[in-house]
Amino acid sequence: MSNIAILCSGGDVSGMNPAIKHFVEYSLKKDLTPFFVYNGYEGLIDNDIQEVSYRDVSGIINRGGTKIGSARSKRFMNPEYRQIAKDNLDALNINMLVVLGGDGSFRGLDAFYKEHSIKSCGIPSTIDNDIHGTDYCLGVDSALNIIRTSIDAIRDTASSFNRAFIIETMGRDCGYLALISALTSGAELCLIPEREHNISDYEDNFKTQMAHGRKYFIAIVSEGIKQDPQEIAKWFEETIGIESRVSILGHIQRGGNPTSYDRLMAYKFVNYAIDGLLGSHTNSVICYTKDGFIYKSIDEVTGSAFKLDPDLLRLLEDV
Ligand code: F6P
Repeated sequence: MSNIAILCSGGDVSGMNPAIKHFVEYSLKKDLTPFFVYNGYEGLIDNDIQEVSYRDVSGIINRGGTKIGSARSKRFMNPEYRQIAKDNLDALNINMLVVLGGDGSFRGLDAFYKEHSIKSCGIPSTIDNDIHGTDYCLGVDSALNIIRTSIDAIRDTASSFNRAFIIETMGRDCGYLALISALTSGAELCLIPEREHNISDYEDNFKTQMAHGRKYFIAIVSEGIKQDPQEIAKWFEETIGIESRVSILGHIQRGGNPTSYDRLMAYKFVNYAIDGLLGSHTNSVICYTKDGFIYKSIDEVTGSAFKLDPDLLRLLEDV
């Protein structure tokens, strides 16, 4: 039997627990001995590694977050700590590693692979959906559903009270969450880092809408834009003439039960990861593209900056 480990790195997502559950089940099915590494690369350095079995993953498929913890590890950027991590894996005869994480996590994995040749596979996992080479990252669907539910709730009060709501979504420098949420919630305004804006460009249109009886506005803004949401609220009050409130959704976007889609994607990502490691893919990231699941080298995925799909950006023109 060979030994295989899994860890979560960077911001947690809903979908990690289903992936962890299936990792254990599928490893055992393939005659591999599964191990958990707790708290990301930190646990790899601190030898927080444990052999696991079915009992360790019962009752977690419906839970957000990650049972094995996650972390952003500064130490893992240092080769000396990566050597300690490798020694810890060697002591347990672990020669395959699956990492659920984002771009930064994969850069660490790439360095680890290049120095120590440990067979590595990344599963894109970030609510930001900002990893080059994959159209989908685990956890995005759950985050989008939480955001949509929140916007629906805010709409209830916005429409009852005749207000403009500026709702800020996460996403770091990527506007994906804001863009999809604005489109699927019928927002009147969407501001994202990928598209420069001048708020005064909306003045005539919004005033006309008010003149035609519009009673409330929903504005979705990504946290990466270069304007304070409070400033936008002030603009609505002073220029458009409607009372306004700001709602920062914050970390609720990272929690909640994983959706059916994320659970299913978790299972598929894990199957590809383990099959790839048992085959010829020793340093890959599983990417989900228009052609289905494909293996890309970690190098390729981390080597280019992420860009939002131009077709999605075009849809924004109509908002
Ligand atoms: O990368 C995921 C993410 O949730 C971003 O959208 C956000 O900017 C960041 O993590 C928040 O990080 P933290 O949980 O460390 O505050």
